[in-house]
Amino acid sequence: MNKKRILSVVGARPNFMKIAPILLEMDKRDGNFDSMLVHTGQHYDQAMSDVFFHELGMKEPDYNLSVGSGSHAVQTAEIMRRFEEVCLLEKPDLVVVGGDVNSTLACSLTAVKMLIPVAHVEAGLRSLDRTMPEEINRIVTDSISELLFTTEISGTCHLKAEGIPEEKIHLVGNTMIDSLVRFSAQLSRNGGRPRVNALAQAGFYLATIHRPSNVDDPEQLTKVLDILESASDRLPVLFVAHPRTRERLRQFGREARFVEIQGEVGEIRTGLVYLLPPLSYLDFLYTMSRATAVLTDSGGIQEETTFLGIPCLTLRENTERPITIEVGSNELVGLDRARILACLDSIGEGRWKQAAVPPLWDGKAAERIVEILERW
Ligand code: UD1
Repeated sequence: MNKKRILSVVGARPNFMKIAPILLEMDKRDGNFDSMLVHTGQHYDQAMSDVFFHELGMKEPDYNLSVGSGSHAVQTAEIMRRFEEVCLLEKPDLVVVGGDVNSTLACSLTAVKMLIPVAHVEAGLRSLDRTMPEEINRIVTDSISELLFTTEISGTCHLKAEGIPEEKIHLVGNTMIDSLVRFSAQLSRNGGRPRVNALAQAGFYLATIHRPSNVDDPEQLTKVLDILESASDRLPVLFVAHPRTRERLRQFGREARFVEIQGEVGEIRTGLVYLLPPLSYLDFLYTMSRATAVLTDSGGIQEETTFLGIPCLTLRENTERPITIEVGSNELVGLDRARILACLDSIGEGRWKQAAVPPLWDGKAAERIVEILERW
């Protein structure tokens, strides 16, 4: 039997932990797959990319397209142009993309026009908010994919409602949780991460905010910062800032309000918001697993907190991951300061809802995916 030539794509930070388990699983069944990896270079900083490869034990990409940042059109077009050359050269049987970033859309569109089938990992999620660039990426990618792997039942329902034939849709669970399961023993070990070790005893909130809708407009960003400052009156806030957020803070002259931390986190005090650079995968998981609550507008963090049972307040009006609310520890709070403070009080008093782990978030999603790829 000929080996299947599978070209997997990563581009931005949230892709790495979703695709790594699939690569590992294909390597285990090496006899059946010729597995190649393309990094589009959408994210390129050491802290946004390299450190993840290292910690997740991913092989060096076979191709790095080095596209870097740009407007949506420029970034997407440049990825398409460069990815087409790789497809022409390698002639894969299947292209595997994950999540909802511009690299996902660009590579799936390129492949399908070359008559190369596409598998979409984390298919079917819908915020129903088309002002989010990710929502457009999801809709387009799903509509042209041949294999659609969903993480939760809402994904399967959306795809069916959009007319995707049932035989293309597979509810397999969550490969991002596969990565978390893989490292969970390491997280519970004492003394794992020196940088954040000092926090283990103290209560604190962890914040990550990077959506354009929350940081690109000075008025919205002011609301976010006011919320974090009010929260810090209850417990210290560790604000881990994405490069986009950092740039906006600088641009709007807001950095001075916070205490900068570059290296070790020493003692942290109530009443202060601490500004941290992007953390590595393991440092972030370690910090998150010890937080009293997480305030975020990320997609993946809603899922990771649900798995860890850490209360999560999502500073958005909608979520494409409803199971994290229905079953998990997540709540949508928008930028409603009074509501957020009331939630933090509930959490402090131990009155937050009991979270459970959604079905199939068991660390075996990649195994299920690769079994399907073998049969396909
Ligand atoms: C992208 C994804 C978003 C995801 C996020 C996770 C899209 C449309 N959005 O948003 O869904 O939640 O990644 O991080 O794909 N930058 C750096 N270094 C880097 C990468 C980016 O400094 O390594 C800065 C640049 O100023 C760049 C900006 O961040 O212009 C935005 O990067 P980009 O990849 O366009 O989108 P993200 O906001 O990261």
